[in-house]
Amino acid sequence: MTEITDPWSRWLLQDRYGGDALALQRTMEFLEPIRDRVLSAAEARPGAVVLDVGCGDGLLGFGALPLVGDSGRIVFSDVSEELLKRCRQIAGELGVLERCRFVPTAAESLAGVDDASVDVLLTRSVLIYVQDKAAAFAAFYRVLRPGGRISLFEPINRRGTELNRDTLFGHDATPIQDLAAKVWTVFEAAAPADGPMMGFDETDLLHLAECAGFSNITVNLELSSTDRPPFAGVGWSQLLAISPNPNAPTFGEAVERALTPEEATRLETYLRPLVDQGRGGRMRHANAYVTAARDA
Ligand SMILES: C[S@@+](CC[C@H](N)C(=O)[O-])C[C@H]1O[C@@H](n2cnc3c(N)ncnc32)[C@H](O)[C@@H]1O
Repeated sequence: MTEITDPWSRWLLQDRYGGDALALQRTMEFLEPIRDRVLSAAEARPGAVVLDVGCGDGLLGFGALPLVGDSGRIVFSDVSEELLKRCRQIAGELGVLERCRFVPTAAESLAGVDDASVDVLLTRSVLIYVQDKAAAFAAFYRVLRPGGRISLFEPINRRGTELNRDTLFGHDATPIQDLAAKVWTVFEAAAPADGPMMGFDETDLLHLAECAGFSNITVNLELSSTDRPPFAGVGWSQLLAISPNPNAPTFGEAVERALTPEEATRLETYLRPLVDQGRGGRMRHANAYVTAARDA
């Protein structure tokens, strides 16, 4: 694999699962049902041109390939040249390069993607990093053909954070709530309340789609809870190497920044057995699925 140097690819290809194979498996077990739901709502037909905005390593775009068939095309777009390179490499390995395009561009402009050139636009967990979401929705509308659709997924982090305050990575933290609160403070500093990650909710997504000109808009907010920690079975030292998003420190770094050595020992004494045995807790999610159409 090529050397990782940009923060987006470093997180996506490494820090989101701490470089651990089981943590990657757990990540994919979480993401695959989301991918399938976004694709199913997109209604991409054979021959369609599909644009994957903020494609990362191509979760949605490669998932859409079988739906659009040999005559369809996938446009992979991202601000990270390294992730586009990774998608190109995967497309080469799959033998589908001639059905794919790779466009380095930001969601806010989609420069390089022609007006009315796309049948279906997909995106997952990209708007959380975009400050000017109105510009992104306007660009989505611009590149869609009349009759085209968007299908997107975003976590509603301001709700998710509130729902998970009594846990750390899905493990019950109520007996060490004072320490958990300090660790949460470090993660929250990386995602300010008025920033792109926390500063919106599902009603904003509805209004953004309306203001951009879309019709037939649906926004489904899904709250869910599971007693299985997201990284169940992944050991303590591996968990310390994981960071929840590209702007955040790893769990280990957050513990180091937030706690004194004595507090860190108290946290580890309580939490490590839960983590190592994969038990104890609740992981709650607040996620939004959005579909909308550009009138024919
Ligand atoms: C959480 S990852 C999601 C990747 C992919 N959509 C997936 O479902 O796996 C966020 C992606 O958004 C990209 N990104 C960040 N800011 C962006 C922007 N302003 N415009 C387009 N892409 C952006 C990052 O490079 C990264 O690939």
